[in-house]
Amino acid sequence: MSRERTPLMAGNWKMNLNHLEGVAHVQRMAFALKGEDYDACEVVVLTPFTDLRSIQVLVEADKLRIGYGSQDISRHAQGAYTGEVSGAMLAKLGCSYAVVGHSERRQYHGETNVVINAKAKAALANGITPIICYGEALEIREAGDQVLFSLGQVAECLEGFTPEEASSVVLAYEPIWAIGTGLTASPTDAQEVCGATRGWLAEHFGSDVADQIRILYGGSMKASNVASLMAQPDIDGGLVGGASLDPDEFVAMARYRLAAG
Ligand code: PGA
Repeated sequence: MSRERTPLMAGNWKMNLNHLEGVAHVQRMAFALKGEDYDACEVVVLTPFTDLRSIQVLVEADKLRIGYGSQDISRHAQGAYTGEVSGAMLAKLGCSYAVVGHSERRQYHGETNVVINAKAKAALANGITPIICYGEALEIREAGDQVLFSLGQVAECLEGFTPEEASSVVLAYEPIWAIGTGLTASPTDAQEVCGATRGWLAEHFGSDVADQIRILYGGSMKASNVASLMAQPDIDGGLVGGASLDPDEFVAMARYRLAAG
């Protein structure tokens, strides 16, 4: 098992925590996290757009080692796109990450793999790492087609990427039936798709690139199941929704190594 990839624990706040609450939340995390925690696991929060400037000011002023990013990004560089936020704007706010293709955006905003592909490229063009989400709905899992379906999504989301571009993305396998439901994929089920994903990446971009790309698991991940998921060879971190809204729980998740023993 390779642990050359730095583990990444990313909290997806979704539409929760205004900028004042967000600042208090990050301060509480920063108070609890120690240098060795950051050395062992990268810690990131993915916040509403309206929180980003306040979090940037806090992180820069206090030199925090907590990273941050957005939950979406426009595929367009600038112009008449009412309501959208460009990669350049996010880069100016110091964002290191942008989630693209979350299942909630696929479901409620009609985002397709083609749109997600363009958003991931817009992120990379601005030095922002896209966290590209993929994963099957319950019917697909019940039919036993989760690997085929998930790899199809990954292939379309990464269509036209050079190996160098691909090496700069993070993937997040989030089976839709496990998101916000309390149902977690078993470590074996999650590993099945994450392992197949790495195999696909190796075939298409070479094994060096595949070994570099971090693949997160997401879907009802919490302090009580994080260690068993992180023990899987192809799971390099978590995209954490509900459990990231409790700073103490999220800090405990970033310290999963202490429970792993
Ligand atoms: P959850 O959400 O941890 O609340 O299941 C994960 C996600 O949607 O990113």
